[in-house]
Amino acid sequence: MRTLLNIPNEFDILFMQGGGIAENAIVPLNLGRGGTLDFVISGSWSEKSLREAQRYGPTHVAASSQAQGFDHLPPAADWQLSAHPSYVHLCTNETIHGVECHTLPDLKALGCDAPLVIDFSSHVLSRPVDWSRVGLAYGGAQKNIGPAGLTLVVVRKDLLGHALPICPSAFNYQTVAQNNSMFNTPPTYSIYMAGLIFDWIARQREGDLHGVAALEARNQAKATLLYDCIDRSSLYHNRVQEPSRSRMNVPFFLRDESLNTAFLSGAQARGLLQLKGHKSVGGMRASIYNAMPLAGVQALVDYMQDFEKTQA
Ligand SMILES: Cc1ncc(COP(=O)(O)O)c(C=O)c1O
Repeated sequence: MRTLLNIPNEFDILFMQGGGIAENAIVPLNLGRGGTLDFVISGSWSEKSLREAQRYGPTHVAASSQAQGFDHLPPAADWQLSAHPSYVHLCTNETIHGVECHTLPDLKALGCDAPLVIDFSSHVLSRPVDWSRVGLAYGGAQKNIGPAGLTLVVVRKDLLGHALPICPSAFNYQTVAQNNSMFNTPPTYSIYMAGLIFDWIARQREGDLHGVAALEARNQAKATLLYDCIDRSSLYHNRVQEPSRSRMNVPFFLRDESLNTAFLSGAQARGLLQLKGHKSVGGMRASIYNAMPLAGVQALVDYMQDFEKTQA
């Protein structure tokens, strides 16, 4: 994983348990230090992170796109950061709303010395990470890596050793790091499977690109194919502003929602499954993680175009 994501030596890689949801508590327990915790709210997952963190310290919302229905990532230049936050939290891919951060903010350039904490659960290993801008990254394995049960934490070593006294030992990053992620019995099967996927990623090629760069090129091609289909159609539409659109999760709507059931059953007949949108958003959602090949997205686009013709 260090090689695939070019993770510098000043970071520890921890294999933990509890998923992204547990990290919503574990991060403030380790990095909160009693200071203010700043959050950028760009969809359901960052909202959830904020709600959990409120149990462990004072929080501050630096920016939110809630009033606009989470149709974009608030630009960093507009963030109202607090004076000396302990950290700034950002979900870099909002799985439900389909909003992705394509360029990590440079907090120093915004006059803020705090570490940036990112939840990269749903796009980890789909693209490179600019580690010079990150203090800590966390994510569950179950989207792009393997079976649930393994949680990845990449943390800058200088941030270790400041956990609140109430932090459980098994969730103390320093303890986990000192024990090489074996302070308690690790999720061995999930780690074994992750190892196989890391090997698979290392073997991926697209032209001159290899590894994560190859996957990024493939993911870009997949997303472009699907968004182009949506944007050219008069039946489908996507509500996320173009610069914030996710390459991993593509929510879309039929302009005539009474066709939703027919669309989904026709899709199922072609083996295109799990397209129903998240219940909080409605419509459709295509999750096109690393494991989905371009041919899978092409099959979806072919179906969407055929379905639209039947409605003409
Ligand atoms: C962006 C994001 N964060 C956190 C989570 C929660 O992960 P877990 O269910 O592993 O706790 C998810 C799960 O879908 C997610 O997509």
